[in-house]
Amino acid sequence: MGRAEGSTLRVVAINPTQVDPALLQAPAETLRSGGLVAFPTETVYGLGVHALDPDAVARLYEAKGRPTNNPLIVHITPEMPVDALVAEWPTAAVQLAEAFWPGPLTLVVKRSARVPDAVTARADTVALRVPTHPIAQALIRMAGVPVAAPSANRSGELSPTTAEHVRRSLGDRIDWLVDGGACPGGIESTVVDVTVSPPRILRPGLVTQAQLEAIVGPVAAPPVGIAVGVPLPAPGMLAKHYAPRTALELAADAEELTLLRDTYTRAGLRVCVLTLPDNPAEAARTLYASLHDRDTGEYDRILTLLPPDTPTWAAIRDRLTRAAATD
Ligand code: TXA
Ligand code: MG
Repeated sequence: MGRAEGSTLRVVAINPTQVDPALLQAPAETLRSGGLVAFPTETVYGLGVHALDPDAVARLYEAKGRPTNNPLIVHITPEMPVDALVAEWPTAAVQLAEAFWPGPLTLVVKRSARVPDAVTARADTVALRVPTHPIAQALIRMAGVPVAAPSANRSGELSPTTAEHVRRSLGDRIDWLVDGGACPGGIESTVVDVTVSPPRILRPGLVTQAQLEAIVGPVAAPPVGIAVGVPLPAPGMLAKHYAPRTALELAADAEELTLLRDTYTRAGLRVCVLTLPDNPAEAARTLYASLHDRDTGEYDRILTLLPPDTPTWAAIRDRLTRAAATD
């Protein structure tokens, strides 16, 4: 199935602190039968499809306008075994899953033949995550199938942290929108490749390098800012990604911020200065919503101060750098 021509988006609001399973029955059935369902997770909203249904996965790429060489994360519940999806489950995966699942950590492992090529972009690996958000868990559990879910935005746009963000970006292209309010985490999961030793961070996120290293010892991290021209282990690592339409510029210090603001203002541009909270978790929670709010055409430039180059700010610096990239 999938979205019928001329059909309208169905929306259901669900209280995440008291999930009513009856309200999830229809979206779960839509997922199981090949439709597109957007739902909240603890990081950002995901756009879910039945991960083992290649036609559904093809519709998902189409709806997002996503390049088919960018693989998807497969979401499962804590009680679903990984065995059917993976060819190997190395010690680092055992330890990291034990420590951080359910939660905002995605593990890249060797895949089994059951996972369709379309999900993994033909790679011999698959990315797996067990979300902790009660709505995400209940929905996947009721669907009874693994759910492939990228962020619920059109490709290249900012990730959504509210149902309204999803509706604006994809409202005319999906079957169901499960509105569970704002996502508590605010930026995407940490993606770690555990097929290599030491494990390697492909995308920094809410689980920090230090937290990973406390469990498995040394972990390799990608530099902030991307080496262009090198084959990308995670195509989501393309420099320009997660970007607002309005030009975003990053200042290295307060002085540069003032200089940029004054220069643009004198040139007649409408400038907005975004001040991030000084706590990394709070900055993550509000980052995309703040950018969405300022990305309405009201401004010509959004300026913000790049946070310090320290491990706890790595994920925020990563997302800001991508959002500001111009190619
Ligand atoms: O927090 C999240 O991870 C959210 C929620 C919805 O779970 N999902 C998300 O999905 O951010 P997406 O598609 O926007 O980003 C998935 C990232 C991309 O950078 C992709 O390249 C990488 O995971 N990825 C997926 N499968 C991979 C694989 N087999 N090998 C390497 N990277 C992979
Ligand atoms: Mg995304």
